[in-house]
Amino acid sequence: MDHTYIRDIGSHVDEEVTLKGWLYNKRSSGGIRFLLLRDGTGIIQCVVRQKDVEEATLEICDLLGQESSVIIRGTVSADERSPGGFEIAVVEGGIEAIQVTDDYPITPKEHGTAFLMDNSHLWLRSRKQWASLRVRARVIKAIRDWLDSNGFLHVDTPIFTPAAVEGTTTLFPVDYFGESVYLTQSGQLYNEANIMSFGKVYCFGPTFRAEKSKTRRHLTEFWMVEPEMAFFDLEDNMVVIEQLVEAVVKDVLSDCGEELKILDRDLTMLQKVEVPFSRIHYDEAVDRLQKSGFDFEWGGDFGSPEETELATQFDKPFFVTHYPAAIKAFYMSRDPERPECALACDLLGPEGYGELVGGSQREDNMDELMKRIEEHDLPLESFEWYLDLRKFGTVPHSGFGLGIERTVTWICGIEHLRETIAYPRMLHRFNP
Ligand code: 4AD
Ligand code: MG
Repeated sequence: MDHTYIRDIGSHVDEEVTLKGWLYNKRSSGGIRFLLLRDGTGIIQCVVRQKDVEEATLEICDLLGQESSVIIRGTVSADERSPGGFEIAVVEGGIEAIQVTDDYPITPKEHGTAFLMDNSHLWLRSRKQWASLRVRARVIKAIRDWLDSNGFLHVDTPIFTPAAVEGTTTLFPVDYFGESVYLTQSGQLYNEANIMSFGKVYCFGPTFRAEKSKTRRHLTEFWMVEPEMAFFDLEDNMVVIEQLVEAVVKDVLSDCGEELKILDRDLTMLQKVEVPFSRIHYDEAVDRLQKSGFDFEWGGDFGSPEETELATQFDKPFFVTHYPAAIKAFYMSRDPERPECALACDLLGPEGYGELVGGSQREDNMDELMKRIEEHDLPLESFEWYLDLRKFGTVPHSGFGLGIERTVTWICGIEHLRETIAYPRMLHRFNP
C-alpha cells in the first residue's frame, strides 16, 4: 500500500504522505485554498498555498467539486486549530484528480429527509451518517464480544420460516415454490431448540415485521440479537440483559469518542449506564402513569407516550416486568402467583427511546403451551417440532431480543431509527 490513512496521520508528523479519498468541502481565503479530504477513516484539512505549488495544481484544485475522488500529497503538521489536530501542506504536484465531479446532489446545506433517503447510497458519506454507522458496527462487535466471552454459542437460525412467533398481523409471506412461508420475525423458537444442545446460544440477524405504522421506532427489516439460556429464570435473564447493555455502552464510550462528538451526544446520560438497572412491576408502571395524570387502565399495552413518560422517571435503562399475559406472545411463561401476568421483562431506554429489549421466561410445560397455541389461533401443525422440546427433556429457560437499531438510536441520541441502518426498510420505502 502506497498511501496513509487519515486515522494514522498522527504518527507521520513532519513526513510527506499520500492520502486517497474524496473532497468533502473546500473554501479559499486570501490566496490559500483549504480542501477537506475524507478517506473513510477520518477527515483532514489540506492546505494549498500559492507559494508552495505550481499553477497546474492550483487549476486542478479549482476544478474539484464536492465528492471528487483525489490523491493528495503533502507534509503533515500538528495544528490544534484544525479539525482532528493535524493538517496537510500540499506539495508541488500534490493533487491528482481520479474523477472530477461538480454536481454532487447532497450539499452542505439542509436537505429534506425524503430526498436524503432517496439518496441513502450517497447520504452515508455525510458526517453524521458516517458516525452513526460506525457506532452501529461497534455496538454489534461489543455484543458479540460479550456473548462470545460469556459462554454463548452463536447459532444461525433460518430466515424462511413456517410460522409466526410475534403475532400473525406482521408477517411477510413469501411464495416458496407454491407454498407460503414467512420471513422470520425472530429466531427465538429455534434458539429454544438450540439451547437443549448447547446450553447458552444466540442468533443474530435480520428480522422482518410488516409494520404498517409510520413511527420513528419501527422498521420492517431490523437486526436483532437473541440470546437464549437453559436453566435461567426471569431474574437470571435480566442480569444477562443489564450486563450486556452495560458492556455495550462502555465499549462505545471508550472507542467511539469522535463519532459521539460528531453526533453531539450528551455523554453524561451514557456514563450513568451501570448495573443494576431498576426493575418495576407492570402494576407499579401503571401506578406511576396514573399518578402522572395518564388515563391508563391495567391491562393495556404501552404506546410511545406511556414509555416516554416512564422513561422521564429514570436516568438509565430500566425493566418493566410481569406484563399482562394477554398482551404478550404465546410462548411466555405465566407468573404462578398471578397467572394473568407473564414472566416478561422489557428493557426501556431512558430519554424516551422506548423498548430496547423484549424478553421473558418461556412456557416449558407441554399442556400449557398447547393451550396457548390454540388460544392464539396458531396452526398447531407448524409448532409440532417446537412442542417436542417440551416432550424430550424440557427445562426452565429464558431469553430476549435486543433490537440493534433501537439500541444504536439511543446510544447515538438520534431522533429516528432510519439513521442507524444504511438502507432502511419502512412502510413504502425499499429503495435504493
Ligand atoms: O419484543 P420483540 O418483538 O421480541 C421478540 O421478537 C422476541 N422473540 C425476542 C426474544 O425473546 N428472543 O422484539 C425484540 C426487540 C424489541 O425490544 C425492539 O428493540 C426490536 O426488537 N424491535 C424492532 N426494532 C425495529 N423495528 C421494529 N419493527 C421492531 N420490533 C421489535
Ligand atoms: Mg416487545
